Amino acid sequence: MSGYKELTDKRLLTCASFVSRGGIVCDVGTDHAFLPCYLVRNGVCERAVAADVNESPLAAAGENIQRAGLEDKIDTVLSDGLDGISPNGVTDVVIAGMGGELIADILGRGKAFYSARFILQPMTKPERLRRWLWENGFEIIAERGCKEEIYYTVMLVKYTGKNTEYTEAQCYTGALKGDSDDDKGYLSKQAERLRKKGEGLKKSGSAQAEEFLQLAEKLDRYIKQG
Ligand SMILES: C[S@@+](CC[C@H](N)C(=O)[O-])C[C@H]1O[C@@H](n2cnc3c(N)ncnc32)[C@H](O)[C@@H]1O
Repeated sequence: MSGYKELTDKRLLTCASFVSRGGIVCDVGTDHAFLPCYLVRNGVCERAVAADVNESPLAAAGENIQRAGLEDKIDTVLSDGLDGISPNGVTDVVIAGMGGELIADILGRGKAFYSARFILQPMTKPERLRRWLWENGFEIIAERGCKEEIYYTVMLVKYTGKNTEYTEAQCYTGALKGDSDDDKGYLSKQAERLRKKGEGLKKSGSAQAEEFLQLAEKLDRYIKQG
């Protein structure tokens, strides 16, 4: 089978940039297996597991793996999160393109993988995911914003067993340094979300409105310092 297309999506390339060299990656919710194919084809990983809870994306993954000629290096597994996957040898787990709460749920059930590195890319509720991570013994080692039509964030996370204290504002900034245009763009979008929420609460007379508006201002100041 021919017609393999090289990966150009900046969001997935940012996930790839956090994967350790020479390891075995497990891509949870792989869909077309674009990421594991890229990682193995480009020599970043020796082997990969491409997992998905749904049959149809897993079939698409199988076809793409065949197109790339990587059937002997990438295994496809039908699995809800990490439930049906062996942790043996897995160095990096990527969970990308899902909601923050679903990612937290998959992590919470994936204890057998806690010695691996986690690369997480939440599509929604990133602040809830960060809060869950800090309250459940994970450390956000690094985080980078990226723009592919819209702004995304990608986190590199390790389980340490130690909880991290955090402020409400840090749930929105995570480990982003704000030192690149993409970081700044992502953070501005977060500030916009907070402002909208604060203004909505203000209209309904909620006492919580000021908290969100102040958080938005705090984020604006953080971006300016970057
Ligand atoms: C929007 S796609 C993201 C694909 C790819 N990871 C990316 O970031 O481009 C989400 C994929 O996650 C899969 N998925 C949803 N819930 C899942 C779960 N609990 N376990 C494994 N895969 C799941 C879906 O079937 C779908 O293929």
